[in-house]
Amino acid sequence: MNFIYESDQLLSQYLLFHYGEAQDVLPFAFGPRDALDFPLRCVRECVDRSLLHGNATGLDIGCAVGRGSFELARLCESVTGIDVSHRFIMAAIELKKNGRLGFDRVDEGVLKSRCIGRVPADIDRRRVHFEVGDAHNLRENLGLHDIVLASNLLDRMGDPGRLIQRLPTLVKPGGQLILTSPYTWMEEFTPHGKWLGGREADGEKIYTFDTLKSLLAPNFKLHRTLDLPFLIREHTRKYQWSIAQATVWVRG
Ligand SMILES: C[S@@+](CC[C@H](N)C(=O)[O-])C[C@H]1O[C@@H](n2cnc3c(N)ncnc32)[C@H](O)[C@@H]1O
Repeated sequence: MNFIYESDQLLSQYLLFHYGEAQDVLPFAFGPRDALDFPLRCVRECVDRSLLHGNATGLDIGCAVGRGSFELARLCESVTGIDVSHRFIMAAIELKKNGRLGFDRVDEGVLKSRCIGRVPADIDRRRVHFEVGDAHNLRENLGLHDIVLASNLLDRMGDPGRLIQRLPTLVKPGGQLILTSPYTWMEEFTPHGKWLGGREADGEKIYTFDTLKSLLAPNFKLHRTLDLPFLIREHTRKYQWSIAQATVWVRG
């Protein structure tokens, strides 16, 4: 288990990543603005609304501090957000309760400034429930959902294949599965033998997208793919700019 997601540093980074105003994240006249608001875009750009009905439900696995779960609540009557990090889930629960949460953003060295994260006022926060859980071993009674989102989770798991195996029991027939990942495989999170791609086996190059297609094919049809940039601010003058591949699958 990797505990970096329990640290002050990552909590602050993710609160800013999920809830920061554009000006708080990227206060320069230049830079990749289309990489802002990633959790919002995971829902707005990936979900196919034409496949939804009136009382849809959603599941956000690896929800972190919960913005994607709140965005799903615009489309779903109830949403469950699950993450292995107790601190992230405590923050998400606070945001559900009060609609806002103060946090310290790192500016330079140990210098910080105060920011407030806010859930958009037009989202019904009562629709969202957060809980701590491990994506390797999700509770049995999670139910079947119209939308299952796992954004930037697979390459942070010890054994992502276990979640892939469990997915058919979480998505309703006709429901949507949205996976996003920059496929940044690292031994720090995932032992090399469990990487879904980014490695060679028997002299063949293995790419994550191909592995996903073959593992999901028995139960899901590939609906579409998108490139989704995202920007994580480390401090005033240092950012991680990445491009996740979003793959949207429909359960057969
Ligand atoms: C890179 S972050 C992505 C968070 C969020 N989905 C997003 O797109 O911003 C990975 C998240 O997965 C969580 N995570 C890592 N391993 C997990 C596991 N086994 N079960 C549930 N959550 C996990 C981490 O705590 C962290 O919140």
